[in-house]
Amino acid sequence: MKKKTTRRAPKTKRGPTRSMLAAMAALAREARERAQAPYSRFRVGAALKTRTGEIVTGCNIENASYGLSMCAERVAVFKAVSEGLSDFDAVAVVADTKRLAPPCGPCRQILWEYCGDILVHMSDLRGRSRSVRLSALLPMPFDSGHL
Ligand code: THU
Repeated sequence: MKKKTTRRAPKTKRGPTRSMLAAMAALAREARERAQAPYSRFRVGAALKTRTGEIVTGCNIENASYGLSMCAERVAVFKAVSEGLSDFDAVAVVADTKRLAPPCGPCRQILWEYCGDILVHMSDLRGRSRSVRLSALLPMPFDSGHL
């Protein structure tokens, strides 16, 4: 029998490059400047990327009725989804903290539902950064499969 000559794409999951993650962090940092955080004074920026390269940013937006405040990550997800985007592969999060700030619990849940096991790239204003998979931050997720 003739040997197959067609090539399969390599099985490795090719994620965003380092330079792409750095570009996303730069956009998240810019978005952070637009944060509305007069109550906590804790400003956060996020940048969410689709596999095909579209990037949507978000910043935290607080309210005098504190509980209505919205995190940067969720602003980015809701903006992107409402624009019809899907198939995300990474989110960058920037905050000014001593220890790199990961997304909060509710944001992890929302990211899981709309983005799956994406790469979470955290950085601070000094340029330190670390990337982890969302599944490492949310190891036993509740999702639609449980309904
Ligand atoms: N915040 C975010 O924007 N993202 C997170 O993952 C953690 C917290 C915001 C919410 C609030 O406006 C401020 O940071 C302090 O909690």
